[in-house]
Amino acid sequence: MTDQKLIDAALAVRKNAYCPYSGYRVGAALVDDRGQMHLGCNVENAAYPQGNCAEASAIGAMISAGGKTIVTIAVAGGRDAVTACTPCGGCRQRINEFANEQTRIIVSGDDGNWDTYLMAELLPASFHL
Ligand code: THU
Repeated sequence: MTDQKLIDAALAVRKNAYCPYSGYRVGAALVDDRGQMHLGCNVENAAYPQGNCAEASAIGAMISAGGKTIVTIAVAGGRDAVTACTPCGGCRQRINEFANEQTRIIVSGDDGNWDTYLMAELLPASFHL
């Protein structure tokens, strides 16, 4: 699975976002330890706190399919243009639950540019039980 394929998948699933309240579309595509890809988009709700982030949707799809570890996750978001949508704090913790030291988070911009981070860069000194 190439980084470009994951980014393209994140951009594609972003189109399905249900975000009538924020207008901010996010798509996430991840590849798991078995090389399978899982997708998610944000799903908002009239009762605002019940909304779901794209990363949470993709993680739910991975766990439902039997995946265990996130190898790489690509995130693409924005209102009209795709801006660098770095995962929110809650999603950093969500990703961390299924990450290891090599797990990469790719943040895609609008212009074909993207940045890649290691989990520990986005969530240093993270909480574990
Ligand atoms: N959102 C995500 O899907 N992922 C993030 O990491 C940041 C925010 C969504 C939540 C909400 O539907 C919209 O973007 C605006 O915050």
